[in-house]
Amino acid sequence: MTDQIERPTATPPSPGRARQNAIYSAGVFGHIPSVPADFAELERRAKRAMGPRAWAYIGGGAGEGATMRANRAAFDDWAIVPRVLRDVSRRDLSVDLFGTTLPAPVLFSPVGAGELAHPDSDIHIGSAAAELGVPYIFSNQGCSPMEDTAAAMEAVTPGAPRWFQLYWSTDDALVESLVRRAENMGAEAIVVTLDTTMLGWRPQDLNLGSLPFARAEGIAQYTSDPRFRDIVAERIANPSGAAGPKVELTRAAVSTLFSMARHLPGSLLKNLASPVPKQSVQTFLDIYSRPSLTWDDIAGLQKRTSLPVVLKGILHPDDARTAVEMGIDGIIVSNHGGRQVDGSISSLHALPDVVAAVDGRAKVLIDSGVYTGADAFKALALGADAVCIGRPHMYGLAINGRDGARDAVANIIAELDLTLGLSGHTDVTSLTPDALRHMGRR
Ligand code: GLV
Repeated sequence: MTDQIERPTATPPSPGRARQNAIYSAGVFGHIPSVPADFAELERRAKRAMGPRAWAYIGGGAGEGATMRANRAAFDDWAIVPRVLRDVSRRDLSVDLFGTTLPAPVLFSPVGAGELAHPDSDIHIGSAAAELGVPYIFSNQGCSPMEDTAAAMEAVTPGAPRWFQLYWSTDDALVESLVRRAENMGAEAIVVTLDTTMLGWRPQDLNLGSLPFARAEGIAQYTSDPRFRDIVAERIANPSGAAGPKVELTRAAVSTLFSMARHLPGSLLKNLASPVPKQSVQTFLDIYSRPSLTWDDIAGLQKRTSLPVVLKGILHPDDARTAVEMGIDGIIVSNHGGRQVDGSISSLHALPDVVAAVDGRAKVLIDSGVYTGADAFKALALGADAVCIGRPHMYGLAINGRDGARDAVANIIAELDLTLGLSGHTDVTSLTPDALRHMGRR
């Protein structure tokens, strides 16, 4: 018998090393990346690139910011304990979510009113996600009709994965219409946000008196919706009789009027003379979300769609248990980026109990404070199947549009790949809490 000499096989491309090489090679010619590779500098540069209203809405959080701080601090409570000499030359970042294999366990979170950071935000973010091959969860508060964003993604990569995030309106027929449209535009999952049946107390926006939706920013899924347009037409035809607040003709009022007219489908001049833009904003504010939502509504949705239903905003293990017992397909452990309840448990601290309650019966994702590849590694080790990235891609978008959104997330994937290998692991799906040590408070 002859000894078999094992020939070295070609090492598959590693996103971490490929990205480092691309950056360092460009550096030889004096080109430095437009999107900083660390979150602190990314945030500083994005703040400089954004106007005050954009920064308040996208960068801001609830109350005194305790939840946002907790989200970050929780990642510091866990330390990675690297292992050595384990042949990490081949690494696998791929995961399967609802029948689709993703190249990395990363998604673009839904973020409303993205045009505050950059015009045509959803089109650019969708294109960026399609380039990377990871899903974009379209926001119900998006700035382009979902069909347009889906078409932009298709143009980059046919079949590029996309999900739809739903706010449950007080009008059930509108919910039905949004879900049907999501199915038709190729959504692979419906993500119902549970933690925003009312907007949280957001001092940064309140202090500027700024709500993007009041200027018709971030209501494109509504103004493009046939059911929503019917409600608006009906309200115009049959005014409730109650006189609205007396209109004061200030510069801000005129600017708001122009903003509304610009954002509605149709010509600016026609819109300026029409009651539709103002009524659309008012209708949106009246019906966009329903605080009386219960588990029964979710059960109804499960019956009405063939798509996987994912519940976003679960933090308590009992809620996770209820969700899986009713056959929910996925959960996103989230406190909405610290934008809803100040003083809330961080997503990462909530994760292990939710993972235990779910016990493999549904996919568990996490968002809120996941800013780096090392953060993603920790979340995966604590049992998440994938992580959703919010502010980092918005900051990249603010700095450099589509390429910026792409690079911000590409950096996170690259760092995740390197962290995986440098910690002695080769497969994101086999990470366990053994890869970490708890260092601080619980
Ligand atoms: C909406 O999703 C918001 O956080 O404002």
